Amino acid sequence: MQNRFWRIARRPEGTDFAAALELDEAPLAPLGAGEIRIRNSHLSMDAGTRMWLTDREDGYQPPLPLGIPMSGLVLGEVTESRADGFAPGDLVRAFGQWADVSTVDAVMSGAIVLDPTVTDRRAWFGPLGMNGWTALWGVEQTGAAKPGERVLVSAAAGATGILAVQVAKLLGCEAWGIAGGVAKCAYLTDELGIAGAVDYKAADVGGQLDAAGGFDIYFDNVGGALLDRVLTRMNHYGRIAVCGLLADYTGGGRTSPREFDQVLMRRLRIEGFFSPDFMHEGPALTRRLREWTEVGELVMPYDVTRGLENTLTAYAKLFTGGNIGKVIVELDA
Ligand SMILES: NC(=O)c1ccc[n+]([C@@H]2O[C@H](COP(=O)([O-])OP(=O)(O)OC[C@H]3O[C@@H](n4cnc5c(N)ncnc54)[C@H](OP(=O)(O)O)[C@@H]3O)[C@@H](O)[C@H]2O)c1
Repeated sequence: MQNRFWRIARRPEGTDFAAALELDEAPLAPLGAGEIRIRNSHLSMDAGTRMWLTDREDGYQPPLPLGIPMSGLVLGEVTESRADGFAPGDLVRAFGQWADVSTVDAVMSGAIVLDPTVTDRRAWFGPLGMNGWTALWGVEQTGAAKPGERVLVSAAAGATGILAVQVAKLLGCEAWGIAGGVAKCAYLTDELGIAGAVDYKAADVGGQLDAAGGFDIYFDNVGGALLDRVLTRMNHYGRIAVCGLLADYTGGGRTSPREFDQVLMRRLRIEGFFSPDFMHEGPALTRRLREWTEVGELVMPYDVTRGLENTLTAYAKLFTGGNIGKVIVELDA
């Protein structure tokens, strides 16, 4: 059987993904011991994967080699299995390939069998997936948010941020978001009911932040110049939970805060966190996130693109701000 997949032909420049990734086709190889085959129904678009496409060796993961299929989280039914604990028909999530069919080592890919009774399976990519875990862990553990504290989240209308502001609110904090544009800010305040939103693409971002008041926790998805603006507006003994550095992903720069001295002046704690480090807590995090989701207290809008051939359009949204909520590619499974 032929399988279509996105092959990494070159390292992308900026957001020119079409020049770097090519839609290719190859026959499926026989399944090896310990492997499973997944008919992908959905691909998760995750901004962090942009770093894997660079050639930097000092990231939290080595660069993906050129010539191989692009990897990412996938969702779908197992069609063949040579791994214990996986049977044809099981709904699974794994680190697979941007392809019609993923072939993965069940252990190395972190494959897990999912509860098929969850009505909207896309939730396994959103609140019940890596974004949900990251949001809850980052606010509660790394940010050490306590009820009544003021939590600010950047890229707040994206998948991770949208969950982080809601989690902060659910934990009794006053949640604020930073997002690009009036529509995204209105979604955060009017639909999600958070305390306020700062439009970083509008005029006078500093003034908007000043009007909001000081923050105890900054859940940072962006880094770059925004981090400087926030550093000077943190409350004493505040915490900055560094989730991601979107400002650096497509430009190749490195966040180098000019206002770093505020860490001392305001006695701040800055700490990065990375979801694979708390993967073992996944089931417990999922249980809590699922309770909130089932009663409608935690919601996720999905930005869905249909067809494997349109994957790059979906992916680019993460870096151009084209999405509200979780970006997903839906395939004909
Ligand atoms: N540490 C971890 O374990 C972990 C796990 C998952 C995700 N993450 C991080 O979470 C962040 C969000 O990832 P995601 O996959 O959930 O994507 P996402 O938030 O759904 O999409 C990215 C959003 O970020 C905003 N953005 C893009 N470039 C920006 C820039 N230069 N400055 C300010 N905002 C920018 C855009 O919205 P606007 O319109 O607002 O610009 C865009 O819609 C990333 O930094 C990612 O690396 C970390």
